[in-house]
Amino acid sequence: MQTLRIGLIGFGYWGPNYARVLSELPGTALTVICDPRADRLAVVAERYPAVATCQSLDDLFARNDVDAVVIATPASTHEALVRASLTHGRHVLVEKPMALHAAGCAALCDLADATGCLLMVGYTFLYNAGVRKMKEMMAPEPFGQPYYLHATRTNLGPIRQDVNAAWDLAPHDIAIFNYLLGEQPLWASAIGTRVLKSNREDIAFATLGYTGDVIGNIHVSWADPNKVREVVAVGSRRRVVFDDLNDAERVRVYERGVSAGDAVADSYGEFKLLVRDGDIISPKVAPSEPLRNQCADFVRCVQSGEPPLASGRFGIGVVRALAAIEASMRAKGAAVEV
Ligand SMILES: NC(=O)c1ccc[n+]([C@@H]2O[C@H](COP(=O)([O-])OP(=O)(O)OC[C@H]3O[C@@H](n4cnc5c(N)ncnc54)[C@H](O)[C@@H]3O)[C@@H](O)[C@H]2O)c1
Repeated sequence: MQTLRIGLIGFGYWGPNYARVLSELPGTALTVICDPRADRLAVVAERYPAVATCQSLDDLFARNDVDAVVIATPASTHEALVRASLTHGRHVLVEKPMALHAAGCAALCDLADATGCLLMVGYTFLYNAGVRKMKEMMAPEPFGQPYYLHATRTNLGPIRQDVNAAWDLAPHDIAIFNYLLGEQPLWASAIGTRVLKSNREDIAFATLGYTGDVIGNIHVSWADPNKVREVVAVGSRRRVVFDDLNDAERVRVYERGVSAGDAVADSYGEFKLLVRDGDIISPKVAPSEPLRNQCADFVRCVQSGEPPLASGRFGIGVVRALAAIEASMRAKGAAVEV
């Protein structure tokens, strides 16, 4: 296999993680890092003296040692940067969200098809061994009928200047829900508030409706001193919890649940409740770095031509849900079709 030569666009808070992973990943060479900020490029020069730097995209695209780019810039810049990269024939791994409207995402996917380039979105949690284990624990037979999902993503910031907390944080949870349920939501209802007096919501509560009346609830906040990264799935036979901050017990499974059995004779529509009681177990989750797994999948898919799990088309589904959440927040929580 030929080495995949990668250019990194954006070296702020998250970009350095990509630089570290890409400079260590077998089969790849990090050749250049592009950022308009000279102070950030000075850090690159110190940390990675063999990696070239540039401040403009034109300089990056003029190079002949860049087969693919990774984009780790603010959300509002993604769409234009992906379009330019695909137009210049580069494979793209872009951080979430791919763009700020679904039509833009669809156009980028079409452009990727037309140029024969791979387009992947950085949904890191799809490459998190804990989320993979959660899906395994939600197999239909042991999990039973899915009832609801609930995700909490709270912390004190980091506060974004270009998008609200829903666009910043909820993409992760929507991606996780869509992956776990294997489908996209049908509708969204959301409310948000602006406690930090900016013109963007810093707190949001969003509900997504999936088929079969399955509910997905998401709470995101930049203004909560308690950092939580948790997803809970409740089914008729099991409750499965993913806690990304708990290294010892990343996933916990409650072998417990309740479901409606046969109708009770001589009652008016009452059903017998079947309660299942069992153990609480912590399945083993092999340690691995999600960002490394994600980058390795990007390289593998570029080289094999296979679609990645977090493909551009998967990303459209997430942005559709985000747009519906945004529209619902403007309508004070009214349900909006996705
Ligand atoms: N997957 C995750 O867990 C995770 C975590 C943090 C951030 N992110 C995502 O990563 C992206 C970047 O976030 P961040 O926290 O690093 O932001 P940041 O503001 O700290 O850094 C962004 C960097 O991009 C540079 N930049 C801006 N416009 C550019 C352009 N046109 N060309 C080149 N560089 C440009 C800026 O100068 C800055 O250095 C966002 O999309 C964010 O949602 C993902």
